[in-house]
Amino acid sequence: MSLHQRPTLTQYLIEQRRRFPEATGDFNSLILDVAMACKSIARAVALGRLADVPAAGTTNVQGEEQKPLDVLSNEAFLRTTEWGGNLAGMASEEMDRPYAIPPQHPRGKYLLVFDPLDGSSNLDVNVSVGSIFSILRAPEEAIAGELAERHFLQAGERQVAAGYALYGPSTMLILTVGNGVAGFTLDPNLGEFMLTHPDLRIPEETQEFAINASNRRFWEPPVQRYVAECETGREGPRGKDFNMRWIASMVAEAHRILMRGGVFLYPRDNRQPQRPGRLRLLYEANPIGFVIEQAGGRASTGRRPVLGVQPEELHQRIGLVFGSRSEVERIERYHAEPGTRDFVTPLFGERTLFRTA
Ligand code: AHG
Ligand code: MN
Ligand code: MN
Repeated sequence: MSLHQRPTLTQYLIEQRRRFPEATGDFNSLILDVAMACKSIARAVALGRLADVPAAGTTNVQGEEQKPLDVLSNEAFLRTTEWGGNLAGMASEEMDRPYAIPPQHPRGKYLLVFDPLDGSSNLDVNVSVGSIFSILRAPEEAIAGELAERHFLQAGERQVAAGYALYGPSTMLILTVGNGVAGFTLDPNLGEFMLTHPDLRIPEETQEFAINASNRRFWEPPVQRYVAECETGREGPRGKDFNMRWIASMVAEAHRILMRGGVFLYPRDNRQPQRPGRLRLLYEANPIGFVIEQAGGRASTGRRPVLGVQPEELHQRIGLVFGSRSEVERIERYHAEPGTRDFVTPLFGERTLFRTA
């Protein structure tokens, strides 16, 4: 079968839309604009040092160094999606405040939240990076009035769609519109994302875990226990040997787990007790969590489903554990055992929409 006999992203979206006869097509054109942003970022990333990007030397709102490509990728998202009349506003890792749609463009009924370049510390060493996006419904007052941070503070279970692009040996787009997960591979000759992975499911059985083990001394007891049990392998309580991976691009780890199973942990730890984890809830944990759950896996704070957490701040961080369902449930069980349950970070509770048992 030649490449271009596969459905394109456009065809996939049109077929999905037939499930909703009342749909206007705004949503589909938004996804296609996001895909366009990802294609342009893929080109820039692939050029590496050949890209003539000026050194930025800036830091973002979280005090992290911004690479020139972080800034360029953020611009790509803004410019490619702001004009279409589908958005009431955007928020990104690289912008302190929400971005209101400029007055010359019509406003639409969605909000777009994104990490324009995830894993950007890997750019210098030519290791895979990606973009992560989440689409929410805009509250009426965000469409009619002034855009505010509170409009974005929606639990992950309210996402309309989410996904990521992976800039690896091939460029891929992984998408959920709440009806399973589809994977597309960019055909560079056609400039089109082609449907190559129609129904991604995370394998249930796994022998692979991913965690930054240099943080071991800061981990809480349930994480210490889980990793120690994996490490003792066949001789330990798990009765099988495990493999460990750490790419330091969450988007690449998520993709590996989607393709062949495994579990990822960036848990809340005791390094800086006021910082409740490393990854950001709205544009890292929630979109990846939605994809993972739609593929039959599980995404958790370690204590509860991450998609149920009510966000309190735009750039809020959170502990994140995701992957094969039974492994994540095991980690949650370890957290629920007496003596480990009552650890509470001073600044952020994990307020949840789910009732805790
Ligand atoms: P970003 O490049 O968007 O700031 O995100 C990097 C994140 C994530 O992708 C990765 O899993 C993690 O940071 C790596 O953290 P360590 O440096 O602690 O390994
Ligand atoms: Mn990131
Ligand atoms: Mn980033």
